[in-house]
Amino acid sequence: MTQLNVNGQSHDIDAPPDMPVLWVLRDIIGLTGTKFGCGIAQCGACTVHLDGVAVRSCVLPIAAVGDRKITTIEAIGDTPVGKRVQVAWRELDVVQCGYCQSGQVMQAASLLTQNPRPSDADIDAGMAGNICRCGTYNRIRAALKQAAKEA
Ligand code: FES
Ligand code: FES
Repeated sequence: MTQLNVNGQSHDIDAPPDMPVLWVLRDIIGLTGTKFGCGIAQCGACTVHLDGVAVRSCVLPIAAVGDRKITTIEAIGDTPVGKRVQVAWRELDVVQCGYCQSGQVMQAASLLTQNPRPSDADIDAGMAGNICRCGTYNRIRAALKQAAKEA
């Protein structure tokens, strides 16, 4: 049994220790906002936070989480930075098909927490691992800047 703290709630998870967090979130806990894209840490669709830092949940075994707190897209709006990111995303109509966007929002919130005033280069570097097949990159950058301005 592995204990995981997800969005402020403790869960006893009966699953193999090497099961990736993404599987547990979606299939056991039922939080389906976090998406499966590549499964090999190459697309960012599965991004969640571990103690506020963006990680790829598709390659993170549950045994490696320990006491660190997992936050998913379902709860990121409860943090001030997450709220600002979501508002900016909505105002600038960033989303196209939406599939990559929970990962984009989680990555953006982590970036802004670590660097409240990112330059274009910081944004490009910080968001480089999050792929969007719809090509919403320009709107993502603009929304990140708006969220940073409102801090
Ligand atoms: S599904 Fe995890 S990075 Fe692509
Ligand atoms: S909005 Fe469609 S993949 Fe990013």
